Amino acid sequence: MAGAALTPAAWTSAVAQPRLADDPFQVGIASGEPLPDGVVLWTRLVTNPQAMDSGMTRAPVKVGWEIAEDDKLTKTVRRGEALAVAEAGHSVHIEVSGLKPNRDYWYRFNAGGHASGVGRTRTAPERGAKVDKLRIAYGSCQKWESGYYSAHADLAEQNPDLVLFLGDYIYEKKASKDGVVRFHPPVDAQDLASYRQRYAWYKADPDLQAAHACAPWMIMWDDHEVSNDYGGDQDRSNPAVAQFLKRRAAAYQAYYENMPLRRTVKPVGPNMRLYRTLDWGRLARLAVIDDRQYRAHRSCDAQQNEANEKLIPAACPERFDPKRSMLGAPQEAWLQGQLRDTQARWNLLGQQTLMNEIITPDLRVSNDGWDGYDQTRRRILEGWRDAKTSNPVVLGGDVHCFFAGDLSLEKGGKPIASEFVGGSISSLGRTKEVIRGMMGITPALKFGDGATRGYGRVDITEKDCTVTFRGVQDALVPKSPVSDLAKFVVEDGEAGLKRV
Ligand SMILES: [Fe+2]
Repeated sequence: MAGAALTPAAWTSAVAQPRLADDPFQVGIASGEPLPDGVVLWTRLVTNPQAMDSGMTRAPVKVGWEIAEDDKLTKTVRRGEALAVAEAGHSVHIEVSGLKPNRDYWYRFNAGGHASGVGRTRTAPERGAKVDKLRIAYGSCQKWESGYYSAHADLAEQNPDLVLFLGDYIYEKKASKDGVVRFHPPVDAQDLASYRQRYAWYKADPDLQAAHACAPWMIMWDDHEVSNDYGGDQDRSNPAVAQFLKRRAAAYQAYYENMPLRRTVKPVGPNMRLYRTLDWGRLARLAVIDDRQYRAHRSCDAQQNEANEKLIPAACPERFDPKRSMLGAPQEAWLQGQLRDTQARWNLLGQQTLMNEIITPDLRVSNDGWDGYDQTRRRILEGWRDAKTSNPVVLGGDVHCFFAGDLSLEKGGKPIASEFVGGSISSLGRTKEVIRGMMGITPALKFGDGATRGYGRVDITEKDCTVTFRGVQDALVPKSPVSDLAKFVVEDGEAGLKRV
């Protein structure tokens, strides 16, 4: 969404300031964190997304914003000003309050004599309100050089109430050599300036900007926002903990600057509390959890297989150690509270990866996902069962494949929840043979596709939850058509998915 010439004139004069020669809205605008009375509006001033300094000087810039009840922005209900400072990467996070629940709003920014495009956002319904429907679009894994963002362009056309992004928003490595359709500088992002530049590079994409401008986002990270396969203070590529935590602090700061998040989650050094809940009236509760920042060190790390470093023997005793957590004790206690005290008919868990156990024919598991932390997974499933949580549904990402399956405490046991891994926006997936193998050894998985890029759409009513996987015809070319790949339904009060 490129900025347009600023109109009307009256609005310009309200925030008069020095002109910027170039459009400062080149990485778009966004909203997020909907509450019944407000949302966060976000932008980051960037006049050159490819430049290390974003094309901005160190000088602070005044940013005007307004939010209205109509898409022409004639019925403005709130407006204000904020200062974009270099210390925050010239980002602004506006926490708007005093809005009406469960309705659309439109917003835009202005700065330096330029106006941004217009974004649509939406407030959540009132707490406890009866709500008929909720549409969520969710995705993950958008490696820049691996493909184009046709999935985002399609998502923006679906009129979702909410967009959920489950991690790998950026990839920190220099562009890989294989399967590259576009390029970014051949450097690893590892300090604040290079992470900032990576976000700007990705966010210059018009399809990604359209997805941000179509609805409020809830967003959680995975590993690549910092470093591949990191866990807690442990980084595979750098065993020096203090050095890694410095890098993690830079990565978290850049993440905060580039996302429509509330000030309450602003990082303090290498720490950023991002797990949180969103309630959509009495219809749905969405808990998003952070399985990276607090996880215990990898189980049986020394027993990794050289060919695939994540695979460890399935019999590894550490993965069954109840003291080891993938979420950390405080987050686990918080999550148990969320699934106990919920009044919602549908209880969604937004998390990073595939939750079903995958044991290879030679009896190995990956220690980077839930299989490395078996007891954390077990405690969540037992929590749902014991609290009689209404209709738990898991949404996931990370594995660059679509998967739909049921989750139970024992193999072949009664389903407690269903899970839907929503593919990848552009990151490359797995071969048909690998998918067939995974499904053969895991009968709880009812559907798998590693060849198609895309995202998931969730339509919730009081009666059922329908998940549609939307597949991109060819993510290696721009503007590729997107169509339904598979559709599933979970009915109220009846655990287990059905293909429709
Ligand atoms: Fe990924």
